[in-house]
Amino acid sequence: MSVTTDRRTFPEPAPSALLLLGRGIDLASERGVECVGDLPAASDPDLVERARAARAALGTRAFVLGHHYQRDEVIDFADVTGDSFKLAREAAARPDAEFIIFCGVHFMAESADILTSEHQKVILPDLAAGCSMADMAAIDQVEDAWDVLADAGIADDTIPVTYMNSTAAIKAFTGRHGGTICTSSNAHVALRWAFDQVGGIEGTGKVLFMPDQHLGRNTAVLQLGLSLDDCVVFDPRKPGGGLTTEQLRDARMILWRGHCSVHGRFSERNVTDIRAAVPDVTVLVHPECKHEVVTAADMVGSTEYIIKALDAAEPGSSWAIGTELNLVRRIAAAHPDKNVHYLDSTVCFCSTMNRIDLPHLVWAMESLLAGRTVNQIVVDADVAHWARVALDQMLALPGY
Ligand code: 13P
Ligand code: SF4
Repeated sequence: MSVTTDRRTFPEPAPSALLLLGRGIDLASERGVECVGDLPAASDPDLVERARAARAALGTRAFVLGHHYQRDEVIDFADVTGDSFKLAREAAARPDAEFIIFCGVHFMAESADILTSEHQKVILPDLAAGCSMADMAAIDQVEDAWDVLADAGIADDTIPVTYMNSTAAIKAFTGRHGGTICTSSNAHVALRWAFDQVGGIEGTGKVLFMPDQHLGRNTAVLQLGLSLDDCVVFDPRKPGGGLTTEQLRDARMILWRGHCSVHGRFSERNVTDIRAAVPDVTVLVHPECKHEVVTAADMVGSTEYIIKALDAAEPGSSWAIGTELNLVRRIAAAHPDKNVHYLDSTVCFCSTMNRIDLPHLVWAMESLLAGRTVNQIVVDADVAHWARVALDQMLALPGY
């Protein structure tokens, strides 16, 4: 496709994860869509009061969810905070709320829509709040990858395990192929279950882990005892994933080439530097960090795990935390008796999480009050059915 102007023809801009500023239109990915109507100015001195008034007027008609990486100004209006799966469960546990206002990113709102009833509407206050990791696995790439595994004769011996941080379409693919969803807190249980479906961890069966190579590798090597040599990285942009048939047949973990742009910034050097600067520091990182960062750290865990670890920490103890900055700042503020450091020396917010700000939240709430349903996230019925199969499989995992 192309765009014609008076004299010249330009190629149609490719849909891009970088179309984030709410100025362009990318209906296929629902990102970059302009908000209808006027957003209040961030400088509006009445903004907090408008937010309070709108929240009070919506009352029990609405339930507001806030992911741990959201801004303080948004978290102040969340009825519950949590990691992506806790929030999806909280949404499912509120069948009486007409509106679930999801202050998080697109894949989380999709999961909430899948897990809530027909009559409930899930609202994402800014449609530009996507996730660069989820964007690294497109459904056609995943279907092509499965064909590569079939050609190599290993598809029947492979179970897909998909991280919550993925599109509904990839979750549905996982459901259709007998796999499961996992989160950063239950990835080890999900992997054990998956290997059990194909002959156990000692056998030759395989897992296709999408889309975060780091969570997959860290879990397989550090929690299941597989070796780095058991892991291969499937690059969807290369023919055959950039792997030979022998490499695919020999592998146990086929890791999708995806990562989190926030956690991918932390380096082993950050760990060395903080240890040199802060005596007796405990380094605690999220499993989306690179393998060398996780092995250099003292502790690793999901956002809920990180919060609980700091709650349980001794007064006076020193911590360096490697996860998104909004959360680390709130943890530091909640624990003035502990020395909480940020692992990276430079700022590391999640830019898409930060898209949800108070002006967008006020705009969404005031629009709902005016009878306009804005930014509703609706997952196609067939996709939702199969995605739910994979989500339910996660819920049925032993010990979860
Ligand atoms: P959790 O909150 O599930 O640990 O996930 C972190 C994350 O990157 C969410 O986008
Ligand atoms: Fe996606 Fe990473 Fe942001 Fe989470 S922190 S929403 S995984 S880019």
